Amino acid sequence: MPALEHVQPLEHRSGRTNVPGAHGFLGRLRRRRAQREHEASVICFANALRGMFRDACAGIGLCQYVSVAAGITVRTPRVAEVRLGPPTSFTVELMAGQEPADFTSKDRGPRLAHTLGAHGLRVEPVAGRWVRIHLLDADPLRDGFGLPSLAVATGAESVILGRTEDATTLGHAIADPAHLGVQGQNGSGKSAFCYGLLAQLAAAPDVLVTGSDITGLLLGRAWDGTAHRAHQVVGTQDIAAHAVLLEDLVAEMDRRLETIPPRRDTIRPSPATPIVLVVLEEFPGLLRAADALPKPKRGEGIPVGDRIRTAVLRLLSEGRKAAFRVLMLAQRFEATAVGGGYARDQFALRLSFRVPADSLEMLHGADARPLGQEHANAAPGVAYLSGLGRDCERIRVPYLGEYGEYVDRVQRFGRRAES
Ligand SMILES: Nc1ncnc2c1ncn2[C@@H]1O[C@H](COP(=O)(O)OP(=O)(O)O)[C@@H](O)[C@H]1O
Ligand SMILES: [Mg+2]
Repeated sequence: MPALEHVQPLEHRSGRTNVPGAHGFLGRLRRRRAQREHEASVICFANALRGMFRDACAGIGLCQYVSVAAGITVRTPRVAEVRLGPPTSFTVELMAGQEPADFTSKDRGPRLAHTLGAHGLRVEPVAGRWVRIHLLDADPLRDGFGLPSLAVATGAESVILGRTEDATTLGHAIADPAHLGVQGQNGSGKSAFCYGLLAQLAAAPDVLVTGSDITGLLLGRAWDGTAHRAHQVVGTQDIAAHAVLLEDLVAEMDRRLETIPPRRDTIRPSPATPIVLVVLEEFPGLLRAADALPKPKRGEGIPVGDRIRTAVLRLLSEGRKAAFRVLMLAQRFEATAVGGGYARDQFALRLSFRVPADSLEMLHGADARPLGQEHANAAPGVAYLSGLGRDCERIRVPYLGEYGEYVDRVQRFGRRAES
């Protein structure tokens, strides 16, 4: 180990020069022994990891059964180089028919990681049939991530939705024809996510932030003085006003649909015909409040709850072409709570903050079932996202911080009403 001779002894760096035996022949011997012991422990660790990986692969079915003279033997993917890390990683040769994603699939990934004593895995293709598997010892979404104080200049620009487990930042342009559905239990971070979303959109001249908010926090006072405020209805004092707003929006949608230019099938958003983002905060709560109102007598009008349901269903089913986008928030996207199964099917982009396992499956389909148990305890700001042409995946959404920061940003960026 000649290289060691050039390394300044540790004792010198820490200033402890009077340790007996640190120098000379004995010191060198000790250092060599320590080095050998270290190397032996690395080899021992690598072998143990290979054994665990083999057992884990056999346990979760990432293996092949080969018949040999003595019976059946199990073949598992070969592990080559092991790096101690942190994070610990190792290279694996895929067997015939295997794909890198097999190691991180929803049903296998967590079981493989837990068997290896890790929180999660990241698989990086190396070359040919080789991948490197990284063992993540902590939840990559554990730490929050702030949202830079930025606003997009047009709805065609992407706003930040969140960050994935492999640190990819996901964006979405509101001009893309997708309605957004957001569910999560109380306190799971739905509203805070929308603070980030709306603050990023507040300045764009071709976006109008409108909608209904019975809580009066997401919309309403924070938007005073902006061009958006006149198109927002808040609070529970006058539930019928929410129905009136939504019906006005439907009328505007119809007007736009009639004026789509020949040889086009959608409205092109512009400052004159902006993208209308219809925010429906705590929508099931609005329906409950509306349904609790006294019903009009027969022949004397339509119940407010039904008017709201009809308007929202029309915005959802026909609004995309007319540059209308719905952003609905609910604790649970149960069909009856959001205006029916057909209404629920219209959300191309779906986000679930902490919810019970059955709610997760309800919004993201049976593929999300294996994720349910863990997600039922998710921290605020951690969500599953499906849509954007990607598989259902776990993300952390950005966090503005205190509510006051949201108000400040809307006030700073919010497009002003033209006088
Ligand atoms: N992305 C996040 N990161 C960290 N903490 C968050 C995040 N989102 C929300 N929180 C915390 O959780 C609390 C509840 O969030 P909120 O958005 O009001 O939940 P919901 O609207 O789902 O009831 C917030 O006051 C905040 O303290
Ligand atoms: Mg909320």
